[in-house]
Amino acid sequence: MKDWKEKIQNAQSLDEIERIRIELFGKKGYFAKEFERLKTLPKDQKPVVAKELNSAKNTLFQALQQKKEELLAKEIQRKLQSEKIDVSLYSVSGYKGAVHPVQHTMDKIIEYFTALNYAVEAGPLVEEDFYNFEALNLPKHHPARDMQDTFYFQDGKLLRTHTSPVQIRTMLSHQPPIRMISPGAVFRRDFDLTHTPMFHQVEGLVVDEAGKVSFANLKFVLEDFLKYMFGDVNIRFRPSFFPFTEPSAEVDISCIFCEGEGCRVCSYTGWLEVLGCGMVDPNVFDAVGYKDVSGYAFGLGVERFAMLLHRIGDLRSLFEGDLRLLEQFR
Ligand code: DAH
Repeated sequence: MKDWKEKIQNAQSLDEIERIRIELFGKKGYFAKEFERLKTLPKDQKPVVAKELNSAKNTLFQALQQKKEELLAKEIQRKLQSEKIDVSLYSVSGYKGAVHPVQHTMDKIIEYFTALNYAVEAGPLVEEDFYNFEALNLPKHHPARDMQDTFYFQDGKLLRTHTSPVQIRTMLSHQPPIRMISPGAVFRRDFDLTHTPMFHQVEGLVVDEAGKVSFANLKFVLEDFLKYMFGDVNIRFRPSFFPFTEPSAEVDISCIFCEGEGCRVCSYTGWLEVLGCGMVDPNVFDAVGYKDVSGYAFGLGVERFAMLLHRIGDLRSLFEGDLRLLEQFR
């Protein structure tokens, strides 16, 4: 008994503990043999010896268990020491990560507008019909809802199809003047060369007292912004329609690939469409209870900007995580 205890105490490794465990408690181990021997003892001695054996068994089992835990803890400590990674060390491989082109483009857009004191607002990706459609002058059964193929949940919630609902959330939680952008992911049931089910937009909204915000203000800011992003391009505003703006416009830049000559990228028009905008529709102000205000809004697709800025041909390549593409942005 004392010998066994010492043996356990002196064990140096988990392997050794395991060997002792088998020697003691294995099928052919010490206790198996002792209990076998018990059978041969005279009847009156059996209970006494059995009791001793059981008590010794318990004691040794506990000692073994304790030693095992001790060695296990030591082992973990040793591993933690030897496998420690110093993340502050320079890598000998020289391999560096990079900001993804979509994030990089988003950062550049945010940089422009925050410099003009626009706040950056966020909204939920799982959105309610009211914010995504209803309050944006897209009532149920409005044909314009067909413009967006929506992912719906069973409870009637949906994945937001654009960042415009953040306009509504911002107006409901703030009082004018408002000057904000909202970057983020949006979702549509679409998948081909130029559509992915998830992509990113940046929304913009400016609201102030009636008469203080004009289409001329909108035009000035967007022209300046597009020159910041794309350099010295020509810019044109085309009349368009969005339910949440009136009047509405789509904005084109002269093709940065052919400089307006006409090429495959611009479908030989010399122009590239880059964003939608307009004066906030009075129905939208009604939906949030704003009175005597004026405002403009705009929305753009970040991937489209990234593809133009970096001359990327296939939208899907932005989401495949292929290092051969990403490494070019280091
Ligand atoms: N929400 C529109 C879309 O997803 C983009 C847009 C157009 C946003 C015009 C606006 C706007 O704020 O004024 O296609």
